Amino acid sequence: MNLIFLGPPGAGKGTVAAELKKTSGLDHLSTGDMLREEMKNETELGKIAKEYIESGKLVPDDLIIDMVKNRLENADAGIMFDGFPRTVAQAEALDKIAHIDAVINLTTTIDVIIERIGGRRICRNCGKVYNVSWYHKDTCEDCGGELYTRADDTEETIRTRYDEYLKKTAPLIDYYRVKGIVHDIDANGDIQTKVDAISDIIKG
Ligand code: AP5
Repeated sequence: MNLIFLGPPGAGKGTVAAELKKTSGLDHLSTGDMLREEMKNETELGKIAKEYIESGKLVPDDLIIDMVKNRLENADAGIMFDGFPRTVAQAEALDKIAHIDAVINLTTTIDVIIERIGGRRICRNCGKVYNVSWYHKDTCEDCGGELYTRADDTEETIRTRYDEYLKKTAPLIDYYRVKGIVHDIDANGDIQTKVDAISDIIKG
C-alpha cells in the first residue's frame, strides 16, 4: 500500500508517519528530510535547495521529482509519502511511477501551526521530533543527541510556507478527491488518536 500525507506545515505529517512506521511495515519518505540531508552533506542539490527552504518557498519540481524517482528505485515496501507531492506537476509525475491507495488530509489552522512549529525541536542525531510544550530537555530521550530548531521555523518563514501550501499544495485535495481516495483527519486532536484513525485506514 502507498499513501500520501497532505496538510499544511506543522499539521503533524512527519510525527504521525514516524509513529505509523513502527507498526505498519510501511516505509517513510519525507522530501523535507531528504532535502535537509542533502543540505547537511553540502551536495549540489542541497546548495540549491537551501535558498528555497530558508525563504519558505518550494524547491523546483524537476529537482524534487528526480530525487524521489532515485529514492523509489530502491523501495521494497509500501511507502508513506510525507511532503510529496506538493504541486499538481509532482502529483502527475507520481501517478506515472506509483499507485496511490489513500491520501490522508490533515486539517488545522494557522494559529495552531504557528504555535506548534514555534515549539518544534529536532534531534540532530536521529531526527526524532519533539515539542517544548511536552518535552523540556535539551537532548534526545532515545539517543542523547542535541536538539535543534530548524532554520525555516521562524514565524515569517512559516507564514510564507503556509501561503505556498494554500496556493500550490491545497489544490491537490481536489486532485485526489475526484479519485475517491481522500480521508480527512482533524489534526488538532492528540497524536495517538490520529495514529489510531490512520492505522484503521491502512488496515482497510
Ligand atoms: P517539510 O520538511 O516537508 O516541511 P513542512 O511540510 O512545512 O512540514 P513540517 O515538517 O513543518 O510539518 P509536519 O506536518 O511534518 O509537522 P510535524 O510532525 O513536524 O518541507 C520543508 C521545506 O522543504 C519546504 O518548505 C520546501 O522548501 C522544501 N520541500 C519539501 N518537500 C518539497 C516538495 N515536495 N516540493 C518542493 N519543495 C519541498 O509537527 C510539528 C510540531 O507539532 C512538532 O513539534 C510536533 O511534536 C508537534 N505536533 C504534531 N502533532 C501534534 C499534535 N497532534 N498535538 C500537539 N503537537 C503536535
